[in-house]
Amino acid sequence: MNHADRIRDILDLFGPGPGQDQLLPVLHALQDQLGYVPPESVDLIAQGFNLSRAEVHGVVTFYHFFRTTPPARCTVQICRAESCQSMGSDALLAHAEGRLGCGLHQHSLDGAFALEPVYCLGQCATSPTIMINNAVHARVTPARFDALLASATEAV
Ligand code: FES
Repeated sequence: MNHADRIRDILDLFGPGPGQDQLLPVLHALQDQLGYVPPESVDLIAQGFNLSRAEVHGVVTFYHFFRTTPPARCTVQICRAESCQSMGSDALLAHAEGRLGCGLHQHSLDGAFALEPVYCLGQCATSPTIMINNAVHARVTPARFDALLASATEAV
């Protein structure tokens, strides 16, 4: 099933002429199923909601949660909040940027990794903390980061 068919199926779930209050649920459903909101979906969604393309695009780009490009196979998030910063997350971030070859909010050149900030994972007592594909890891040193990255790479 191509993207256009899946987008139509999702719109059908919300019935004919869905109300504008259903726009965010449709976008969430789309991202849940495809991993992102493809740019080509904007026209179909605009038609389904009787909105302009600019209105739909405005909503998609307003919320940072929505991605407009396919997600990386592996997302690495480094905690940037206070406790982790006091325990060396700046140096850990610099190490991660060097290993992945990209900065925050970027993908590695091969597109396999995304590097993102996160602001407190509730593990402050065991800072610095990171998350790799939704798995939290505490007390992360550069050496441990490399080991975790190697494991994650094998898993994806
Ligand atoms: S500040 Fe990093 S886990 Fe709380």
